[in-house]
Amino acid sequence: MISLKERKRILGAGKLKTVWEGEPLLGSIYSEEEIEAAVSVMRVAQEDVTKGFGYSKPTEDFEREFAAYAGTKHAIALNSAGPGLDLAMRFLKLKRGDEVIVPAINFVAAPLAVLGAGGQVVWGEVNPKTLQLDPRDVEKRITPRTRAIFPVHFNGLSAPVDEYLDIARRNPHKRHGPPAVITDAARAVGGEYRGTKIGKKGLMTVFSFHTMKNMVTLGEGGMVTTDDDDAGAYVRSARFYGGATEVWGSSYVMTKVQAAVGSVQLKKLDGFIAARRRLAQARNGMLADVPGLQLPHEPKDCKHSYYLYTCLVPKAWAGEKRDRLMQMMSEVYGVKCLVANPPCYKSRKLLRDHTAGQDLPLSNEIGARLLCLPIHPAMPDKDNEYISAAFIECMEQLRK
Ligand SMILES: Cc1ncc(COP(=O)(O)O)c(C=O)c1O
Repeated sequence: MISLKERKRILGAGKLKTVWEGEPLLGSIYSEEEIEAAVSVMRVAQEDVTKGFGYSKPTEDFEREFAAYAGTKHAIALNSAGPGLDLAMRFLKLKRGDEVIVPAINFVAAPLAVLGAGGQVVWGEVNPKTLQLDPRDVEKRITPRTRAIFPVHFNGLSAPVDEYLDIARRNPHKRHGPPAVITDAARAVGGEYRGTKIGKKGLMTVFSFHTMKNMVTLGEGGMVTTDDDDAGAYVRSARFYGGATEVWGSSYVMTKVQAAVGSVQLKKLDGFIAARRRLAQARNGMLADVPGLQLPHEPKDCKHSYYLYTCLVPKAWAGEKRDRLMQMMSEVYGVKCLVANPPCYKSRKLLRDHTAGQDLPLSNEIGARLLCLPIHPAMPDKDNEYISAAFIECMEQLRK
Protein backbone atom coordinates (compact mmCIF):
# COMPACT_ATOMS: atom_id res chain seq x y z
CA MET A 1 0.00 0.00 0.00
CA ILE A 2 1.17 3.57 -0.63
CA SER A 3 2.66 5.01 2.58
CA LEU A 4 1.07 8.01 4.30
CA LYS A 5 4.05 10.19 3.36
CA GLU A 6 3.85 9.19 -0.30
CA ARG A 7 0.10 9.73 -0.31
CA LYS A 8 0.47 13.27 1.00
CA ARG A 9 3.10 14.00 -1.64
CA ILE A 10 0.99 12.59 -4.50
CA LEU A 11 -2.22 14.35 -3.47
CA GLY A 12 -0.36 17.55 -2.60
CA ALA A 13 0.69 17.93 -6.24
CA GLY A 14 -2.86 18.96 -7.14
CA LYS A 15 -5.81 17.49 -9.01
CA LEU A 16 -5.50 15.58 -12.27
CA LYS A 17 -5.83 17.40 -15.59
CA THR A 18 -7.92 14.54 -16.98
CA VAL A 19 -11.26 13.80 -15.39
CA TRP A 20 -11.17 10.00 -15.62
CA GLU A 21 -14.52 8.21 -15.75
CA GLY A 22 -15.02 4.83 -14.08
CA GLU A 23 -15.69 3.61 -17.64
CA PRO A 24 -13.88 6.04 -19.95
CA LEU A 25 -16.01 7.13 -22.88
CA LEU A 26 -13.37 6.11 -25.42
CA GLY A 27 -11.91 2.83 -24.22
CA SER A 28 -9.23 2.70 -26.86
CA ILE A 29 -6.73 4.95 -28.62
CA TYR A 30 -6.91 6.08 -32.24
CA SER A 31 -3.93 7.17 -34.29
CA GLU A 32 -3.30 8.26 -37.88
CA GLU A 33 -3.39 4.60 -38.89
CA GLU A 34 -7.11 4.26 -38.13
CA ILE A 35 -7.85 7.58 -39.83
CA GLU A 36 -5.95 6.44 -42.92
CA ALA A 37 -7.74 3.06 -42.91
CA ALA A 38 -11.15 4.74 -42.78
CA VAL A 39 -10.31 7.24 -45.51
CA SER A 40 -8.81 4.58 -47.77
CA VAL A 41 -12.12 2.70 -47.84
CA MET A 42 -13.91 5.89 -48.84
CA ARG A 43 -11.30 6.50 -51.54
CA VAL A 44 -12.06 3.11 -53.10
CA ALA A 45 -15.67 4.21 -53.63
CA GLN A 46 -14.56 7.67 -54.77
CA GLU A 47 -12.30 6.20 -57.43
CA ASP A 48 -14.63 3.47 -58.64
CA VAL A 49 -18.37 3.92 -58.10
CA THR A 50 -19.04 0.29 -59.00
CA LYS A 51 -17.24 -0.68 -55.78
CA GLY A 52 -20.16 0.12 -53.55
CA PHE A 53 -22.51 -2.43 -52.06
CA GLY A 54 -20.75 -5.53 -53.34
CA TYR A 55 -17.26 -4.48 -52.27
CA SER A 56 -16.73 -6.38 -49.04
CA LYS A 57 -12.96 -6.85 -48.78
CA PRO A 58 -12.46 -4.76 -45.58
CA THR A 59 -15.15 -6.77 -43.76
CA GLU A 60 -13.86 -10.11 -45.05
CA ASP A 61 -10.32 -9.16 -44.01
CA PHE A 62 -11.41 -8.07 -40.54
CA GLU A 63 -13.45 -11.23 -40.02
CA ARG A 64 -10.57 -13.46 -41.16
CA GLU A 65 -8.11 -11.64 -38.91
CA PHE A 66 -10.46 -11.76 -35.92
CA ALA A 67 -11.12 -15.49 -36.41
CA ALA A 68 -7.35 -16.05 -36.48
CA TYR A 69 -6.96 -13.98 -33.31
CA ALA A 70 -9.69 -15.91 -31.46
CA GLY A 71 -8.61 -19.23 -32.97
CA THR A 72 -12.10 -19.95 -34.31
CA LYS A 73 -13.45 -21.21 -37.62
CA HIS A 74 -15.88 -18.35 -38.01
CA ALA A 75 -16.06 -14.67 -37.08
CA ILE A 76 -19.03 -12.63 -38.25
CA ALA A 77 -18.92 -8.84 -37.96
CA LEU A 78 -22.05 -7.01 -36.81
CA ASN A 79 -23.14 -3.45 -36.17
CA SER A 80 -22.97 -4.02 -32.38
CA ALA A 81 -22.93 -6.76 -29.76
CA GLY A 82 -26.62 -6.47 -28.85
CA PRO A 83 -27.82 -7.98 -32.15
CA GLY A 84 -25.17 -10.70 -31.76
CA LEU A 85 -26.67 -11.68 -28.40
CA ASP A 86 -30.17 -11.57 -29.94
CA LEU A 87 -29.14 -13.79 -32.86
CA ALA A 88 -27.36 -16.23 -30.56
CA MET A 89 -30.57 -16.64 -28.56
CA ARG A 90 -32.76 -16.83 -31.67
CA PHE A 91 -30.53 -19.61 -33.02
CA LEU A 92 -31.75 -21.77 -30.12
CA LYS A 93 -35.42 -21.51 -31.27
CA LEU A 94 -36.59 -21.16 -27.67
CA LYS A 95 -40.13 -22.21 -26.81
CA ARG A 96 -42.23 -20.62 -24.07
CA GLY A 97 -40.87 -21.73 -20.70
CA ASP A 98 -37.44 -22.70 -22.00
CA GLU A 99 -34.92 -21.49 -19.46
CA VAL A 100 -31.62 -19.67 -19.88
CA ILE A 101 -29.33 -19.13 -16.89
CA VAL A 102 -27.87 -15.61 -16.85
CA PRO A 103 -25.81 -13.96 -14.09
CA ALA A 104 -27.82 -11.26 -12.30
CA ILE A 105 -24.71 -9.09 -11.87
CA ASN A 106 -24.59 -8.10 -15.51
CA PHE A 107 -25.34 -5.54 -18.18
CA VAL A 108 -28.94 -5.84 -19.35
CA ALA A 109 -28.18 -6.88 -22.95
CA ALA A 110 -27.92 -10.65 -22.40
CA PRO A 111 -31.11 -11.10 -20.36
CA LEU A 112 -32.98 -8.82 -22.80
CA ALA A 113 -31.81 -11.10 -25.63
CA VAL A 114 -33.37 -14.07 -23.80
CA LEU A 115 -36.65 -12.14 -23.48
CA GLY A 116 -36.54 -11.10 -27.12
CA ALA A 117 -36.11 -14.70 -28.24
CA GLY A 118 -39.08 -15.85 -26.14
CA GLY A 119 -37.16 -17.60 -23.35
CA GLN A 120 -37.33 -17.44 -19.57
CA VAL A 121 -34.45 -15.80 -17.71
CA VAL A 122 -33.21 -17.68 -14.66
CA TRP A 123 -30.84 -15.51 -12.66
CA GLY A 124 -27.62 -17.01 -11.34
CA GLU A 125 -25.40 -15.80 -8.51
CA VAL A 126 -21.79 -14.86 -9.10
CA ASN A 127 -18.68 -16.10 -7.35
CA PRO A 128 -17.95 -13.23 -4.93
CA LYS A 129 -14.22 -13.42 -5.59
CA THR A 130 -14.20 -13.44 -9.41
CA LEU A 131 -17.65 -11.85 -9.95
CA GLN A 132 -18.28 -14.43 -12.70
CA LEU A 133 -21.40 -16.63 -12.91
CA ASP A 134 -20.79 -19.26 -10.21
CA PRO A 135 -20.76 -22.83 -11.60
CA ARG A 136 -21.89 -24.18 -8.21
CA ASP A 137 -24.95 -21.95 -8.42
CA VAL A 138 -25.60 -23.04 -12.04
CA GLU A 139 -25.65 -26.67 -10.78
CA LYS A 140 -28.45 -25.66 -8.40
CA ARG A 141 -30.52 -23.81 -10.97
CA ILE A 142 -30.25 -26.11 -13.97
CA THR A 143 -33.50 -27.97 -14.72
CA PRO A 144 -34.85 -30.22 -17.50
CA ARG A 145 -36.07 -26.99 -19.19
CA THR A 146 -32.63 -25.33 -19.30
CA ARG A 147 -31.62 -24.66 -22.91
CA ALA A 148 -28.60 -22.44 -22.37
CA ILE A 149 -26.06 -21.13 -19.90
CA PHE A 150 -25.39 -17.52 -20.85
CA PRO A 151 -22.53 -16.02 -18.79
CA VAL A 152 -20.86 -12.68 -19.29
CA HIS A 153 -17.07 -12.39 -19.12
CA PHE A 154 -17.58 -9.80 -16.44
CA ASN A 155 -15.58 -6.59 -16.70
CA GLY A 156 -12.80 -8.12 -18.78
CA LEU A 157 -12.07 -11.36 -16.92
CA SER A 158 -12.94 -14.72 -18.48
CA ALA A 159 -15.81 -16.68 -17.00
CA PRO A 160 -14.96 -20.35 -16.19
CA VAL A 161 -16.40 -21.66 -19.45
CA ASP A 162 -15.05 -25.24 -19.15
CA GLU A 163 -16.97 -25.66 -15.92
CA TYR A 164 -20.26 -24.59 -17.53
CA LEU A 165 -19.59 -26.93 -20.47
CA ASP A 166 -19.09 -29.78 -18.03
CA ILE A 167 -22.35 -28.97 -16.21
CA ALA A 168 -24.16 -28.76 -19.57
CA ARG A 169 -22.80 -32.18 -20.62
CA ARG A 170 -24.00 -33.74 -17.39
CA ASN A 171 -27.48 -32.18 -17.67
CA PRO A 172 -28.69 -32.73 -21.24
CA HIS A 173 -32.08 -31.45 -22.33
CA LYS A 174 -34.32 -34.34 -23.41
CA ARG A 175 -34.79 -33.08 -26.97
CA HIS A 176 -31.95 -30.65 -27.55
CA GLY A 177 -29.03 -32.28 -25.73
CA PRO A 178 -26.59 -30.36 -23.51
CA PRO A 179 -27.65 -26.74 -22.93
CA ALA A 180 -25.69 -24.37 -25.16
CA VAL A 181 -22.97 -22.32 -23.49
CA ILE A 182 -23.06 -18.92 -25.16
CA THR A 183 -20.92 -16.14 -23.72
CA ASP A 184 -21.13 -12.37 -23.72
CA ALA A 185 -17.60 -11.05 -24.19
CA ALA A 186 -18.66 -7.47 -24.92
CA ARG A 187 -16.21 -6.25 -22.26
CA ALA A 188 -13.55 -8.87 -22.62
CA VAL A 189 -11.98 -8.81 -26.06
CA GLY A 190 -8.29 -9.61 -25.62
CA GLY A 191 -8.72 -11.59 -22.39
CA GLU A 192 -7.51 -15.19 -22.13
CA TYR A 193 -8.63 -18.44 -20.53
CA ARG A 194 -6.66 -21.68 -20.25
CA GLY A 195 -4.30 -20.84 -23.08
CA THR A 196 -7.04 -19.66 -25.44
CA LYS A 197 -8.28 -16.21 -26.29
CA ILE A 198 -11.77 -15.48 -25.02
CA GLY A 199 -14.03 -16.40 -27.93
CA LYS A 200 -12.81 -19.92 -28.52
CA LYS A 201 -14.88 -21.88 -25.99
CA GLY A 202 -18.61 -22.52 -25.95
CA LEU A 203 -21.06 -22.52 -28.86
CA MET A 204 -20.82 -18.80 -29.63
CA THR A 205 -19.10 -15.74 -28.18
CA VAL A 206 -20.28 -12.19 -28.74
CA PHE A 207 -17.92 -9.20 -28.67
CA SER A 208 -18.52 -5.46 -28.65
CA PHE A 209 -16.40 -2.74 -30.25
CA HIS A 210 -18.61 0.03 -28.86
CA THR A 211 -16.74 3.25 -28.13
CA MET A 212 -15.98 2.32 -24.49
CA LYS A 213 -14.61 -1.13 -25.18
CA ASN A 214 -11.06 -2.58 -25.27
CA MET A 215 -10.98 -2.09 -29.04
CA VAL A 216 -13.38 0.09 -30.95
CA THR A 217 -14.82 0.59 -34.44
CA LEU A 218 -16.01 4.18 -34.69
CA GLY A 219 -18.61 4.18 -31.95
CA GLU A 220 -20.40 0.89 -32.52
CA GLY A 221 -19.52 -2.59 -33.70
CA GLY A 222 -19.58 -6.24 -32.75
CA MET A 223 -18.43 -9.74 -33.67
CA VAL A 224 -19.66 -13.29 -33.14
CA THR A 225 -17.12 -16.11 -33.07
CA THR A 226 -17.91 -19.81 -33.32
CA ASP A 227 -16.45 -23.13 -34.41
CA ASP A 228 -19.93 -24.42 -35.21
CA ASP A 229 -20.76 -24.31 -38.93
CA ASP A 230 -24.54 -24.15 -38.42
CA ALA A 231 -24.31 -21.35 -35.86
CA GLY A 232 -21.88 -19.46 -38.09
CA ALA A 233 -24.06 -19.84 -41.18
CA TYR A 234 -27.13 -18.77 -39.23
CA VAL A 235 -25.58 -15.57 -37.85
CA ARG A 236 -24.02 -14.70 -41.21
CA SER A 237 -27.36 -15.13 -42.95
CA ALA A 238 -29.60 -13.51 -40.31
CA ARG A 239 -27.39 -10.43 -40.09
CA PHE A 240 -28.61 -9.58 -43.58
CA TYR A 241 -32.28 -10.58 -43.88
CA GLY A 242 -31.71 -14.32 -43.60
CA GLY A 243 -31.84 -15.12 -47.34
CA ALA A 244 -28.80 -17.37 -47.38
CA THR A 245 -30.35 -19.94 -45.03
CA GLU A 246 -34.02 -18.95 -45.38
CA VAL A 247 -34.47 -17.73 -41.82
CA TRP A 248 -35.82 -14.57 -40.26
CA GLY A 249 -33.30 -11.76 -40.47
CA SER A 250 -32.76 -8.06 -40.40
CA SER A 251 -29.81 -5.82 -41.23
CA TYR A 252 -27.07 -5.93 -38.62
CA VAL A 253 -24.18 -5.32 -40.98
CA MET A 254 -20.98 -3.59 -39.93
CA THR A 255 -19.87 -0.88 -42.35
CA LYS A 256 -16.68 -1.38 -44.37
CA VAL A 257 -15.16 1.76 -42.88
CA GLN A 258 -15.65 0.32 -39.39
CA ALA A 259 -14.18 -3.01 -40.46
CA ALA A 260 -11.06 -1.30 -41.84
CA VAL A 261 -10.63 0.52 -38.52
CA GLY A 262 -11.26 -2.76 -36.69
CA SER A 263 -8.37 -4.41 -38.52
CA VAL A 264 -6.01 -1.70 -37.29
CA GLN A 265 -7.36 -1.82 -33.73
CA LEU A 266 -7.05 -5.60 -33.65
CA LYS A 267 -3.33 -5.35 -34.44
CA LYS A 268 -2.95 -3.03 -31.46
CA LEU A 269 -5.26 -4.89 -29.09
CA ASP A 270 -2.64 -6.94 -27.25
CA GLY A 271 -0.69 -3.73 -26.65
CA PHE A 272 -3.79 -2.03 -25.22
CA ILE A 273 -4.38 -5.01 -22.94
CA ALA A 274 -0.73 -5.00 -21.84
CA ALA A 275 -1.08 -1.32 -20.90
CA ARG A 276 -4.26 -2.00 -18.92
CA ARG A 277 -2.60 -4.94 -17.16
CA ARG A 278 0.48 -2.95 -16.25
CA LEU A 279 -1.65 -0.20 -14.69
CA ALA A 280 -3.88 -2.72 -12.89
CA GLN A 281 -0.92 -4.61 -11.47
CA ALA A 282 0.74 -1.39 -10.28
CA ARG A 283 -2.53 -0.33 -8.70
CA ASN A 284 -2.96 -3.73 -7.04
CA GLY A 285 0.37 -3.03 -5.33
CA MET A 286 -0.61 0.50 -4.32
CA LEU A 287 -3.96 -0.64 -2.86
CA ALA A 288 -2.74 -3.91 -1.35
CA ASP A 289 -3.77 -4.36 2.30
CA VAL A 290 -6.23 -1.46 2.38
CA PRO A 291 -8.41 -2.80 5.21
CA GLY A 292 -11.58 -4.50 3.99
CA LEU A 293 -11.07 -3.65 0.31
CA GLN A 294 -11.38 -6.50 -2.21
CA LEU A 295 -9.28 -5.93 -5.33
CA PRO A 296 -9.90 -7.52 -8.76
CA HIS A 297 -9.05 -11.20 -8.69
CA GLU A 298 -7.21 -12.93 -11.53
CA PRO A 299 -7.45 -16.74 -11.36
CA LYS A 300 -4.30 -18.60 -12.43
CA ASP A 301 -5.91 -19.93 -15.63
CA CYS A 302 -7.02 -16.46 -16.84
CA LYS A 303 -5.45 -13.36 -18.26
CA HIS A 304 -7.62 -10.44 -17.20
CA SER A 305 -8.09 -7.71 -19.80
CA TYR A 306 -9.03 -5.17 -17.06
CA TYR A 307 -11.79 -3.56 -19.07
CA LEU A 308 -12.89 -2.22 -15.70
CA TYR A 309 -10.98 -2.18 -12.42
CA THR A 310 -13.61 -3.64 -10.11
CA CYS A 311 -13.35 -3.49 -6.31
CA LEU A 312 -15.67 -4.52 -3.49
CA VAL A 313 -15.87 -2.25 -0.44
CA PRO A 314 -16.31 -3.84 3.01
CA LYS A 315 -19.69 -5.48 3.68
CA ALA A 316 -20.55 -2.86 6.30
CA TRP A 317 -20.11 -0.16 3.63
CA ALA A 318 -22.64 -1.67 1.21
CA GLY A 319 -24.97 0.91 -0.32
CA GLU A 320 -24.93 4.27 1.38
CA LYS A 321 -21.29 4.33 2.50
CA ARG A 322 -20.09 3.02 -0.86
CA ASP A 323 -22.06 5.83 -2.49
CA ARG A 324 -20.48 8.41 -0.17
CA LEU A 325 -17.04 7.06 -1.06
CA MET A 326 -17.79 7.55 -4.76
CA GLN A 327 -19.14 11.03 -4.11
CA MET A 328 -16.01 12.00 -2.18
CA MET A 329 -13.76 10.64 -4.95
CA SER A 330 -15.62 12.79 -7.46
CA GLU A 331 -16.16 15.98 -5.45
CA VAL A 332 -12.85 16.19 -3.61
CA TYR A 333 -10.47 14.53 -6.07
CA GLY A 334 -12.24 14.79 -9.44
CA VAL A 335 -12.14 11.02 -10.04
CA LYS A 336 -15.35 9.43 -11.29
CA CYS A 337 -16.12 5.91 -10.13
CA LEU A 338 -18.84 3.66 -11.47
CA VAL A 339 -21.16 0.93 -10.24
CA ALA A 340 -21.01 -1.68 -13.01
CA ASN A 341 -23.27 -3.49 -12.53
CA PRO A 342 -26.00 -3.88 -9.94
CA PRO A 343 -28.34 -6.86 -10.46
CA CYS A 344 -30.23 -6.40 -13.75
CA TYR A 345 -33.60 -6.85 -12.06
CA LYS A 346 -32.88 -3.72 -10.04
CA SER A 347 -32.06 -1.57 -13.05
CA ARG A 348 -34.86 -2.65 -15.43
CA LYS A 349 -38.53 -3.08 -14.51
CA LEU A 350 -39.10 -5.18 -17.62
CA LEU A 351 -36.58 -7.72 -16.34
CA ARG A 352 -37.86 -7.46 -12.76
CA ASP A 353 -41.41 -8.26 -13.91
CA HIS A 354 -40.21 -11.08 -16.17
CA THR A 355 -38.33 -12.73 -13.29
CA ALA A 356 -40.79 -11.87 -10.50
CA GLY A 357 -40.13 -13.98 -7.42
CA GLN A 358 -36.44 -14.41 -8.21
CA ASP A 359 -34.36 -12.38 -5.77
CA LEU A 360 -30.68 -13.15 -5.26
CA PRO A 361 -29.30 -12.16 -1.85
CA LEU A 362 -25.63 -12.45 -2.81
CA SER A 363 -26.08 -10.44 -6.00
CA ASN A 364 -27.95 -7.78 -4.03
CA GLU A 365 -25.05 -7.54 -1.61
CA ILE A 366 -22.39 -7.47 -4.32
CA GLY A 367 -24.33 -4.86 -6.28
CA ALA A 368 -24.25 -2.64 -3.19
CA ARG A 369 -20.51 -3.17 -2.59
CA LEU A 370 -18.96 -2.96 -6.01
CA LEU A 371 -17.30 0.05 -7.47
CA CYS A 372 -15.05 0.49 -10.50
CA LEU A 373 -12.08 2.85 -10.45
CA PRO A 374 -11.03 4.38 -13.79
CA ILE A 375 -8.52 2.53 -15.96
CA HIS A 376 -7.48 3.21 -19.55
CA PRO A 377 -4.52 2.21 -21.73
CA ALA A 378 -3.52 5.86 -22.11
CA MET A 379 -3.56 6.60 -18.38
CA PRO A 380 -0.20 8.01 -17.21
CA ASP A 381 1.43 6.29 -14.22
CA LYS A 382 1.12 9.47 -12.18
CA ASP A 383 -2.67 9.52 -12.71
CA ASN A 384 -2.80 5.90 -11.63
CA GLU A 385 -0.87 6.84 -8.49
CA TYR A 386 -3.14 9.81 -7.82
CA ILE A 387 -6.32 7.73 -8.19
CA SER A 388 -4.91 5.08 -5.83
CA ALA A 389 -3.77 7.66 -3.27
CA ALA A 390 -7.12 9.48 -3.41
CA PHE A 391 -8.98 6.22 -2.94
CA ILE A 392 -6.96 5.27 0.15
CA GLU A 393 -7.43 8.78 1.54
CA CYS A 394 -11.22 8.70 1.01
CA MET A 395 -11.49 5.27 2.60
CA GLU A 396 -9.52 6.47 5.60
CA GLN A 397 -11.67 9.58 5.95
CA LEU A 398 -14.84 7.48 5.89
CA ARG A 399 -13.45 4.98 8.36
CA LYS A 400 -13.14 7.71 11.04
C1 LIG B 1 -21.62 -6.85 -20.93
C2 LIG B 1 -22.18 -6.17 -22.13
N1 LIG B 1 -22.94 -6.86 -22.99
C3 LIG B 1 -23.44 -6.32 -24.10
C4 LIG B 1 -23.22 -5.00 -24.41
C5 LIG B 1 -23.81 -4.42 -25.65
O1 LIG B 1 -22.82 -4.04 -26.54
P1 LIG B 1 -23.16 -3.10 -27.78
O2 LIG B 1 -23.22 -1.72 -27.23
O3 LIG B 1 -22.01 -3.30 -28.72
O4 LIG B 1 -24.44 -3.56 -28.35
C6 LIG B 1 -22.43 -4.22 -23.57
C7 LIG B 1 -22.17 -2.80 -23.89
O5 LIG B 1 -22.11 -1.92 -23.13
C8 LIG B 1 -21.90 -4.81 -22.39
O6 LIG B 1 -21.14 -4.11 -21.54
